[in-house]
Amino acid sequence: MTTLISKKVATAIYQQIGLEFFASMQYEAISAWFKQQGLPRLSAHFSQQASEERAHAHRFMKYVVDTGTPLQLPAIAAPKCSFKSAEEAVKVALDHELKVTDSINALFDLAEKEGDRFTQNSLQWFISEQLEEVSSADELLQMVKRAGDGGLLLVEYFLGGGGSPGGGK
Ligand code: FEO
Repeated sequence: MTTLISKKVATAIYQQIGLEFFASMQYEAISAWFKQQGLPRLSAHFSQQASEERAHAHRFMKYVVDTGTPLQLPAIAAPKCSFKSAEEAVKVALDHELKVTDSINALFDLAEKEGDRFTQNSLQWFISEQLEEVSSADELLQMVKRAGDGGLLLVEYFLGGGGSPGGGK
């Protein structure tokens, strides 16, 4: 089978798949932590985010297969499972989204350098998705900060009312 992407690009995509699966596990851990704090809507929000991250990993895996490239998956580090506060939990999510954004931008730069139009084109979807996810995580962080511990039930109310960060997906 013809391979449409270079070894360098393939290696960078394998690492990206690892970041997406890590994000999924990190969000599962944040979701479980919120559930334990008695905040079910924040828990559901992060459970939904975990599913989206798994879908991102699958999207990259499909791309590898579609380009006729052998698939390799990296080891995944353990996520952080306990947090000092809701603010810290959401900050962990935002920081990881920023890291994923940097990684996707670097992947795009590499594809551009390699003259790889297929990968550049496929990454456009992820670039738009990162804008939405960083913006949504940042909005949630601001909300949780403003709410403080006593106001987290208001965040719960907001997330349950169809006006959740990220458009209530
Ligand atoms: Fe798939 Fe939110 O990075």
